Amino acid sequence: MINHLPPDTTASSLKKELNNSPLSLLVTIASFNPACRPLLAQLADLEKDYMFGGSLHSCTGPSSQEKPNVWILKTDDSEELEELAVELRMDVPSYRIYKNGVQIGENKGRVVTVEEIREGLRQAAAQCCPSDNTRSSAWCCPPSSGTANAAVCCPDGSKDAPSDPSAILRLVQQSYSNTVNKSTGGCCVSVSPELLGYTPEQIAAASDSNLGLGCGNPLSFADVKQGETVVDLGSGAGVDCFLASQQVGREGQVIGVDMTSDMVFTARGHAADRKCTNVSFRLGEIEHLPIADGTADVVISNCVINLSPDKGQVFKEIYRVLKPGGYLKDAGFGNIEVNLKEESRDIISQWLPGSGAEDFVVGAEIKARKL
Ligand SMILES: C[S@@+](CC[C@H](N)C(=O)[O-])C[C@H]1O[C@@H](n2cnc3c(N)ncnc32)[C@H](O)[C@@H]1O
Repeated sequence: MINHLPPDTTASSLKKELNNSPLSLLVTIASFNPACRPLLAQLADLEKDYMFGGSLHSCTGPSSQEKPNVWILKTDDSEELEELAVELRMDVPSYRIYKNGVQIGENKGRVVTVEEIREGLRQAAAQCCPSDNTRSSAWCCPPSSGTANAAVCCPDGSKDAPSDPSAILRLVQQSYSNTVNKSTGGCCVSVSPELLGYTPEQIAAASDSNLGLGCGNPLSFADVKQGETVVDLGSGAGVDCFLASQQVGREGQVIGVDMTSDMVFTARGHAADRKCTNVSFRLGEIEHLPIADGTADVVISNCVINLSPDKGQVFKEIYRVLKPGGYLKDAGFGNIEVNLKEESRDIISQWLPGSGAEDFVVGAEIKARKL
């Protein structure tokens, strides 16, 4: 029942498989992401639902069961599979449910739980055949419809702010997926790049890779040199990566990491348009970087660590991927420099004009080196 997609799977070969099966479940995972390990084990439990005449009913009658074909897309199995996840705009972890090759459910913005998948499959199996349009259209969104399963297909089904770290990550991911797809904004107020200290040349060079999501200018104090390897945490559409690529030159490289597949897709498109070969973008969480130990000379991040529900883990990962050279207390760094930026008053005063936020919040440049 559970199949791992082979490393050379393409979008068209996957489409054929999905078309050939009445009910399919596609799940993306990565072994370096701890949230995926229990998920994989629990997926095996789904098998039990289809043994001994379980309770899943199909459109052909209540006694027959539609057993889903489960496809696992493991992004660290091959570059092709990671590219496929990005091409499909599937984050890690995430899932989609297909009926006769047509996608009818997914976990957009929600934590992936096996209970939710089970419920989605149960509803998909019970959903009437495509000829019965009335039933199938009522099954999914909007959540106001009596039969809707908000947990499976309506990302805005719940308005409660989550406290669970995985739920926070999925919400942030959904927010930036919406941002890059031009539906709604992300976490931050858009700040003019001039105010952040980007030069007119940099603004021109960044062009469409600058979505106005950053709230700082890490390269202005990162002291990047030719030939170095720079890692950008939460690279978005790639703005600071493309600027860093000019600073590291042909001998250097820049790796952007972002957990939102839509962002990685967009950033890779910009890299291809620019024929920029010393920049790559990887799909992953900054809490579990898809980067080998001791890779980076410099790690930068622009308005992203603030979004992480586990900042301590982010700093541990920064420490791990840096080459020897500095420290930050608990994570093992040293020589920490915190430089308050008085000029941040101008930016902060724009967040909520008239609130006086600028009297209580100040921007800072923080630099640390791994010893
Ligand atoms: C405020 S935007 C900044 C984007 C980019 N640095 C810039 O200045 O334009 C935040 C970005 O970080 C990504 N992000 C947020 N939390 C993340 C996490 N825990 N792991 C990986 N990416 C994350 C989002 O998907 C989004 O693209």
